[in-house]
Amino acid sequence: MLEVRRSDVEYPDVEIVMKINGELKKVKVKPYERLIDVLRNKLGLTSVKEGCGRGECGACVVIMDNRPVPSCLVLAVRANGKSILTLEGLAPEGKIHAIQKALIDVHALQCGFCFPGVIMMSKHLLDNNPDPSEEEIREALDGNLCRCGSYLRFVKAVKLASKYLREGKTYFDESEVLR
Ligand code: FES
Ligand code: FES
Repeated sequence: MLEVRRSDVEYPDVEIVMKINGELKKVKVKPYERLIDVLRNKLGLTSVKEGCGRGECGACVVIMDNRPVPSCLVLAVRANGKSILTLEGLAPEGKIHAIQKALIDVHALQCGFCFPGVIMMSKHLLDNNPDPSEEEIREALDGNLCRCGSYLRFVKAVKLASKYLREGKTYFDESEVLR
């Protein structure tokens, strides 16, 4: 009798459509592909980082239909028809977002590997709670691991970003900040 092994089965591609950083994108994916792999490898959005690959570190967080999700745990087919925001879509060309400016201002920059997830989670917090307390910031970021230990500076940065945003300063010129 012919034995069919699981690894011999060729799964057909499925076409999905997502609104990524404001632009509609069609992409062919396998039914088992993870969103993180499609974002990084098929769409070139390499800000999305893989740390643990099992929903524990927060490095891969993107905002999907206004909710932060660990993209390592989401099948790409589940993102069909959804809006996705990654760090690449946070600010227009030549600008940086208030959260990025605040991280620089409080000297939180170390290796930066965890930053994309921390920034997306902070954005979600500030979109929903423009003036969070320290406790609320800690709670929002409690799923974001930072091997460099910048936790205290993240709290300060989110406080500062919240001030910038409440003053109407959403974007800053990249050339001014990074000179
Ligand atoms: S890589 Fe997704 S939560 Fe760690
Ligand atoms: S800054 Fe290095 S992991 Fe957070």
